[in-house]
Amino acid sequence: MASDGGARRLLLLVPTTSYRVADFLDAAHSLGVEVAVGSNRRQVLEALAAGRTVTLDFHDLEKGVGQIVAYADEYPLKAIVAVDEEVTVLAAKASEVLGLPHNAPDAVAAARNKYRMRTRLANSGLASPEFRLLSTGDDAERAARMSFYPCVLKPLALSASRGVIRADDPEAFVAAFHRIVKILEQPDAGAGGDEARHILAEGYIPGAEVALEGLLQGGRLTPLALFDKPDPMEGPFFEETIYLTPSRLPEVVQRSITAATQRAAAALGLEDGPVHAEMRIVDGVPWVVEIAARSIGGLCSRILRFGAGVTLEELILSHALGLPVPSKEREGRAAGVMMIPVPRAGKLRQVSGLAQARAVAGIEEVTISIATGGELVPLPEGYKYLGFIFAKAETPEAAEQALRRAHGALVFDIGPL
Ligand SMILES: Nc1ncnc2c1ncn2[C@@H]1O[C@H](COP(=O)(O)OP(=O)(O)OP(=O)(O)O)[C@@H](O)[C@H]1O
Ligand SMILES: [Mg+2]
Repeated sequence: MASDGGARRLLLLVPTTSYRVADFLDAAHSLGVEVAVGSNRRQVLEALAAGRTVTLDFHDLEKGVGQIVAYADEYPLKAIVAVDEEVTVLAAKASEVLGLPHNAPDAVAAARNKYRMRTRLANSGLASPEFRLLSTGDDAERAARMSFYPCVLKPLALSASRGVIRADDPEAFVAAFHRIVKILEQPDAGAGGDEARHILAEGYIPGAEVALEGLLQGGRLTPLALFDKPDPMEGPFFEETIYLTPSRLPEVVQRSITAATQRAAAALGLEDGPVHAEMRIVDGVPWVVEIAARSIGGLCSRILRFGAGVTLEELILSHALGLPVPSKEREGRAAGVMMIPVPRAGKLRQVSGLAQARAVAGIEEVTISIATGGELVPLPEGYKYLGFIFAKAETPEAAEQALRRAHGALVFDIGPL
């Protein structure tokens, strides 16, 4: 057994498409922690040439766990952290075998599957919509006749609103159903597993949407940031745009959002690590859209700082390693991020106006995450963010205005494919 620094060694599980790798690696380095990266793709590992890497099977759970255990035998681990939702179950199972702090694998698996999540939430006493599990082989017309309206159809285990479609009548239901079946047939949409053979229909929840970022420690939730989503998200597709914190909702509603998130976590059995909950507020009452056992997606976490400037990733890694977490108090300034909407399908030829956008007061950074020449795919089929705009300001209103101004300065030249 090697004895080099294993006291603080961390294994990061990194799926192919994660936006979050660099930020987690930076966090590990700034904490002075030795980090190893495990992935199923050699390209990911080669891109991270520096440091230790290990190739893991992300599809065969048992095999993946065996590989991690063998690795830990040689290089003892203090924690295993899943960088994205795709790998939370593997992280939980391997942690269980190695006796590391973890969520129950069953709880994480329920959080990964929107039908199992709905079932547990419906039994939790929280406000919950009607829902029904459909098979991709079902007769869509018949299912549409039997459905409730308005409803939302969605895949069980995709993300970034991919394949999430509102239907107000049977005709829209049938169209949405067939469209989701097609999405689920794509090679990167579940690899034909059981989840890719089902579709969830649930009642449409009206109301403004918020997202709560939190950290669970021994089952107790600490809210880290509550985000308002000021753009209406009424469908038929649900593109994420602006997130703003602090929330402008009344204090009493904010407290009930934290309480609902705590209750949702308990209903699933989640006890440890980051959670990201999405809710809609109906007459002051939070309705859970979903709760995920991960931190906020994309590059959105870059606008968060805690205490004396600690990043969200540093906070998550400190917690995972049992190191002291100095402060979970977000900085005083308001912060906002815009996930830049995909204007239309095509080939991204050029983005101009970046300098003007960056020069807008309050803008911290503008990042385009699709390479020139890359394909732009709008929702509901697409799932890659075009880019991100980050703002800080005295008030959420000012941060929102800065984001909209910067976005207005950007010009996207999109050609045919
Ligand atoms: N029952 C519902 N009622 C109203 N809106 C809904 C409902 N379900 C989903 N939505 C909308 O669709 C969005 C995406 O749905 P959901 O969170 O289930 O999918 P997702 O792909 O996991 O999203 P993400 O990865 O962005 O968190 C939600 O944020 C919400 O705006
Ligand atoms: Mg979601």
